Amino acid sequence: MSFPKNFIWGVAGAAYQVEGAWNEDGKGPSIWDTYTHSRRSPVHHHENGDVACDSYHRIKEDVALLVEMGVKAYRFSISWPRVIPDGIGDVNPKGLSFYSELVDELIANNIEPMVTLYHWDLPQHVFDKGGWLNSDIIGWFDKYTRTVVEALSDRVTYWMTFNEPQCFIGLGYYNGSHAPFLNMSDRDVILMSHNVLLAHGTAVRTIRKYAKKTPMVAFAPTGPSVLPKDESEEAIEEARRKTFEFNDFGYILSNSWWADPIFLRKFPDGAKEFFGDDLPDFTEEEWDIVSTPLDFYGCNIYFSMKSKEDFLITAPKPLEKTGEGLTAIDWIITPEVLYWSAKFFYERYKLPIMITENGCAMCDWVMLDGKVHDAQRIDFTTKYLREYHRAAEENIPLLGYIHWSFMDNFEWGLGYDARFGLVHVDYYTQKRTLKDSAYWYRDVIASNGESLFKD
Ligand code: NOJ
Repeated sequence: MSFPKNFIWGVAGAAYQVEGAWNEDGKGPSIWDTYTHSRRSPVHHHENGDVACDSYHRIKEDVALLVEMGVKAYRFSISWPRVIPDGIGDVNPKGLSFYSELVDELIANNIEPMVTLYHWDLPQHVFDKGGWLNSDIIGWFDKYTRTVVEALSDRVTYWMTFNEPQCFIGLGYYNGSHAPFLNMSDRDVILMSHNVLLAHGTAVRTIRKYAKKTPMVAFAPTGPSVLPKDESEEAIEEARRKTFEFNDFGYILSNSWWADPIFLRKFPDGAKEFFGDDLPDFTEEEWDIVSTPLDFYGCNIYFSMKSKEDFLITAPKPLEKTGEGLTAIDWIITPEVLYWSAKFFYERYKLPIMITENGCAMCDWVMLDGKVHDAQRIDFTTKYLREYHRAAEENIPLLGYIHWSFMDNFEWGLGYDARFGLVHVDYYTQKRTLKDSAYWYRDVIASNGESLFKD
């Protein structure tokens, strides 16, 4: 009852959520810096990532925690404005060396670095020049990509271009709940999507061209995953159809809006008819760029969808069962989603699956004995992983599982209220405490998942 040989067990974080040092060593501001500093920021308690987990100053301490947990991989993102402060011009050598040192420390401890190039912290200067609306961003992002690849690819194999375009475009420019907190027209949002897709494909080519080690390249989307009501053929087909329907939950948030162009070289069924002239086509050459082949299907999966409202408010409430268990931020708990999504994504896009994020926010605190007894996270993750294992049993190729998150951190619009970590962080002292789940995860990893099946 174990996972495939060489299965990658990891944890994840992202630059803005953990690093802090928002204006140190030449880093330029990102839209998250600017908009969380705004007097009208809607983020809970007016919090921001200025200090966050202070990870920028704690490479050794944090990698030591990863070692204690026995993880095989650490997925982290690179802050574009730390490397190129205005996003376009000169490189900031200090910013680049921070990531180089982090990679060295990981490698020295046999932990695979997994790099996400863009986890939402758009350089403010790029935004001022039109951001994702300006097609010049494709070249600016490409230059940044090449800079990072040239600096790190002698040691880094795993590359992800974009984290959740559904969220940074959908929540940032479509429903206004993330920086820069805008509600824009479909026409604009479609143009931004085109530029994201082209920037993605261009970056994939650049990674392949300049990487010193043969790279494994992907992106890390999210999207609505729908569960079948029962296991009849009809119910499974219905769930599959809804998982890929391009507009049931809002096109910008869907799986197919982003993944069909990349993997199937076409817009999702129905999109052209629905948008008409508002959806300009790519040229043949652009389609080639967008659909540049990837090596695996990365996906961030937390819960299954039940209704359209679920996703738009980002905190789905259980609509079916009164009193159903919820995480601390009201997300429903649907372990089967890891089985069905792995199956559906593999069938449609035909690449090995890597869960690039999964986890839960719970009400964790340091207890009288100095420990964090997060039994609910252990239960949650055991159930999800057992379902994921079901996909392995059906010979769906699974590359790995990356738990969100390594440590508690800045949860975007929810500020520091939501604790997703396997490691507890006291934001006043920066003291890290491994939660019970961190030790539990260590045993899961050491047994390659066998311990999940012992009661
Ligand atoms: C999605 C994002 O990639 C990550 O930044 C966020 O903290 C988690 N999922 C939890 O919401």
